[in-house]
Amino acid sequence: MPRMNVETLIIGAGAAGMMCAAHAGNDVLVIDHAKAAGEKIRISGGGRCNFTNLYASPQNFISQNPHFAKSALKRYTQWDFIALVDQYGIKWHEKTLGQLFCDTTAKDIIAMLRAEMEKSGAKLWLQTDVKVISRNAEGFRVIVEKSGRSTTIQAQKLVVACGGKSIPKMGATGLAYQIASQFDIPVVAPRPGLVPLTFSDEKFKPLAGVAAPSRVTTARTSFDEAILFTHRGLSGPAVLQASSYWEEGEAITLNLDPSGTLLQKLQQDRSTQGRKALTSVLAQHLPTRLVEFLSADLNLSGNIADQSDRRLGEISAALSAWEVKPAGSEGYRTAEVTLGGIDTDALSSQTMMSKSVPNLYFIGECVDVTGWLGGYNFQWAWSSGWAAGKAI
Ligand code: FDA
Repeated sequence: MPRMNVETLIIGAGAAGMMCAAHAGNDVLVIDHAKAAGEKIRISGGGRCNFTNLYASPQNFISQNPHFAKSALKRYTQWDFIALVDQYGIKWHEKTLGQLFCDTTAKDIIAMLRAEMEKSGAKLWLQTDVKVISRNAEGFRVIVEKSGRSTTIQAQKLVVACGGKSIPKMGATGLAYQIASQFDIPVVAPRPGLVPLTFSDEKFKPLAGVAAPSRVTTARTSFDEAILFTHRGLSGPAVLQASSYWEEGEAITLNLDPSGTLLQKLQQDRSTQGRKALTSVLAQHLPTRLVEFLSADLNLSGNIADQSDRRLGEISAALSAWEVKPAGSEGYRTAEVTLGGIDTDALSSQTMMSKSVPNLYFIGECVDVTGWLGGYNFQWAWSSGWAAGKAI
């Protein structure tokens, strides 16, 4: 069997793996089983890649240890990545809430990372499967298979950058958790995050396609953004954000009056358009189909002029505290990220190296650090990849 030696072997040519390769010296091999590097970058942000967030800070990340991400995020910031993007002349814009997107295409980010890898001398093998990993005196012995041919790679350092379990169709495998288990490194149970929520009955089916601004509250936190009703349940940015904090069996609360001004608006409408039906007036503030859907439950009958202050108060209160109980989520099939992962207690926050297995590193989404929606997950991939690369 052919054999080759490298100083550093990186498994996974995604966001974190490529960033690490660009900074890990010149004797680096990156392997990936996919046909192309950075496939998730390519499809991200609707093809324009929301590559970071102006406001990225440790509070935007979920982890059993909320302090773990601080070091890497502080040493390689969103400003560092923006400077790199600018250096390559990639034009970008802020869409909303500090979210930065490429003006043209996410492929520009992949080309930039490939160029950075080439500059540092890193090699890339695609369509390469990992068969066996073992540890020996010199480091790690990894048997890989490419085009039906096996090769033994002897590496002093091994970086696991093969992501989480989200979207198996895009090549996610969960290999990182298997490697952790092989080396007795603890893993916080992975689960889908940033994922649409589903309901056991089809009660929201008539609302499919309706979107509305809302505040979505779980037992742990709230998010103010749009919600979107789907054939199976609820999606939209506010629901995706909340899904990362939601636990099975819990209810969530939808506040369809996030600005808290509905009562005042209805009182004004009563004096200016008293002869209109209550539902018609409400439909000026909420999507018509949503008003029709809620009409029977909230007994939205009569003209607006017939409604007392107390009654309008009851309606506004009901619309700002609509409790619904999801049955589950759409799972890894559509989840944007995987929550949980390699237990951060087992890693150095400075270098991402395992505390128990010297020269074994974990970076990116496979680690128990998960960002909010809005460019935070890529920022974690850049920061953790950079931190490991610099340490190597
Ligand atoms: P990533 O998944 O990018 O890379 C892992 C690599 O390992 C892949 O190339 C894969 O092929 C390879 N691999 C996996 N198993 C392997 C195996 N067994 N053998 C060999 N190779 C293997 N985030 C954000 O900040 N802004 C955004 O706009 C979006 N948009 C978005 C859209 C969609 C549809 C998804 C699914 C996700 C996003 N994300 C996002 C999340 C973001 O894509 C994600 O957090 C990062 O890609 C994680 O980077 P990693 O490098 O850790 O994993």
